[in-house]
Amino acid sequence: MTKTPPALLLTGATGYIGRRLAPAFQGAWKVFRASRTAAGEGALDLDLGEPDTIRRAFDAAAPAVVIHAGAESDPDACEKDPERARRVNVDAVKALAALCGASGARLIYFSTDLVFDGERGWYSENDAPSPSGVYARGKLAGEEAALVRAPGAVVLRISTAYGRPLGGRPGFIDRLREKLFRGEPVSAFTDQWRTSTAADQLPEVLSRLLADPDLAGVFHWGGAERATRYETAMTFARVMGFDERLVHPSRAVDAKFASPRPRDSSLDSSRLAAAIGVAPLTNEVGFKALRGAW
Ligand SMILES: NC(=O)c1ccc[n+]([C@@H]2O[C@H](COP(=O)([O-])OP(=O)(O)OC[C@H]3O[C@@H](n4cnc5c(N)ncnc54)[C@H](OP(=O)(O)O)[C@@H]3O)[C@@H](O)[C@H]2O)c1
Repeated sequence: MTKTPPALLLTGATGYIGRRLAPAFQGAWKVFRASRTAAGEGALDLDLGEPDTIRRAFDAAAPAVVIHAGAESDPDACEKDPERARRVNVDAVKALAALCGASGARLIYFSTDLVFDGERGWYSENDAPSPSGVYARGKLAGEEAALVRAPGAVVLRISTAYGRPLGGRPGFIDRLREKLFRGEPVSAFTDQWRTSTAADQLPEVLSRLLADPDLAGVFHWGGAERATRYETAMTFARVMGFDERLVHPSRAVDAKFASPRPRDSSLDSSRLAAAIGVAPLTNEVGFKALRGAW
């Protein structure tokens, strides 16, 4: 008789991150993919703004593990509708974490480098968050809910992600690539530092996390390299064979966003790297892996 694999509930299954996690776990886990638009086998209707649907999806999956990658991930959208952002990014995590706590399911909650104010950079898990803006404050409140309500939860803070074009909300590298591909000029900030996360490495990172139930609490996972948006764009153009002269320097201090953006929210990922035996990638190595992806 074949053994039924344990159930894994993945929220945000149609997102930039979720789309690469679901296929990676299918087989070893019975994966339930939950979101408003998830379709096909294993899909569950979930609206994070509607608590009833959270409970229904949870009950239907009866998960041993919940990976919560669902969120309103656009900081500017959160700033424009803080009430909705609170329901989706805070209240929903409270509800989901409480269900995990009550059932004993392990919760892995995706969070963000933006919980830091960006005044110093290269943040470790011991540094105190100091978020500004509705999105960042909500993600930190979600972290607290996960850790308090779901004992043994993992909070995984990642930086701006790039990867194979599978769908979800496009990031900096996706928008950059679109323009460079069309031969259009792009501007990139010389005064904003990030440790860009190779999204296609996340299935391996998550697999290692899932394999070790003793790993709990807050972890950082970015790239190996702290670089400005401009440096990142130049590396991308060079590695992908685009015309580097199309990349122009600009300054974040001169740009206007609805939501504040930290100057330097780079993450030190060494703690998790040591714990799971996986090395984060430099931009050069991560971008080389994407050659031919489009
Ligand atoms: N990508 C990055 O650069 C980055 C950086 C730092 C942190 N993060 C964090 O990583 C996680 C995943 O981000 P992502 O980049 O994959 O985001 P994304 O591409 O914007 O996807 C968001 C996901 O959440 C779902 N979702 C949004 N609103 C929902 C709602 N009201 N009810 C149910 N599902 C909803 C969407 O599904 P439907 O539209 O189908 O409902 C989608 O699957 C988030 O927690 C985000 O804060 C991402």
